[in-house]
Amino acid sequence: MASKSIQKPNWAHWRRRFKARSDRGLPKLDTTGDYSRLPPSLARSLAVFQLGESGGGTVIEQARTSTLASVDDDYAEAVSLFVDEEHRHANILAMCVRLLGGELIRRNWTQRLFLFGRRLIGLRLKVLVLLAAEVVGICYYSSIAAKLRPGAVRNWLYDLVQDERSHLEFHCLFLQAQVTSGLRRRLFVTVWRSVMFAAAIVVMIDHRRTIRDLDLGFKRTWQRWMAFSQMAERLVTGEPVACAKSVEA
Ligand SMILES: [Fe+2]
Ligand SMILES: [Fe+2]
Repeated sequence: MASKSIQKPNWAHWRRRFKARSDRGLPKLDTTGDYSRLPPSLARSLAVFQLGESGGGTVIEQARTSTLASVDDDYAEAVSLFVDEEHRHANILAMCVRLLGGELIRRNWTQRLFLFGRRLIGLRLKVLVLLAAEVVGICYYSSIAAKLRPGAVRNWLYDLVQDERSHLEFHCLFLQAQVTSGLRRRLFVTVWRSVMFAAAIVVMIDHRRTIRDLDLGFKRTWQRWMAFSQMAERLVTGEPVACAKSVEA
């Protein structure tokens, strides 16, 4: 099978990109909104995502010690800034949970599953699992935001979606640099579809009450996840990406 050499991504650019927004701080707490009519399942759902956004330390170490040809110091530093950004998301989600009258949680079974997947083996699988989390996050945060009235929580969730979109691009570039042959591409597609399918199932089960209470629609939610995961797959494998409208989040 013919193999192609993919140029190492410009990680210095990503390092600068993450660095440029690393001093944003947290948004000002705005307690003027009335969230009393929202279902308690929403606060619980965001608390689960808050927990998921809190981890990520081991990926930094793996990026720093990786011997992959496509990895360099700029990538490792970009990963470190990416993890900081996810921790900022965790803090913003904690603010959302409190505004909604919910409580933060310390443990959750889906978070433990994602953690298990990320710890399973090396950097490549870890980034693949992170990519699945970005797909779920982009779709879920934007679906929820679209159901909320204008206000702090809605604005913050849309801001998170913007960050997650760039994370998706960042992880896709890394994985794209790994699929240098037809065999590797097929392996990636098989593992990616399995991980994405499993992730979508467990998140849908765990967040079923919110999906029901906010009338997000199980079928709509599923289709959106699958459309986005297909787009991510094409970004990695170099296939033409479907029209942006069909994967609008
Ligand atoms: Fe995030
Ligand atoms: Fe992210």
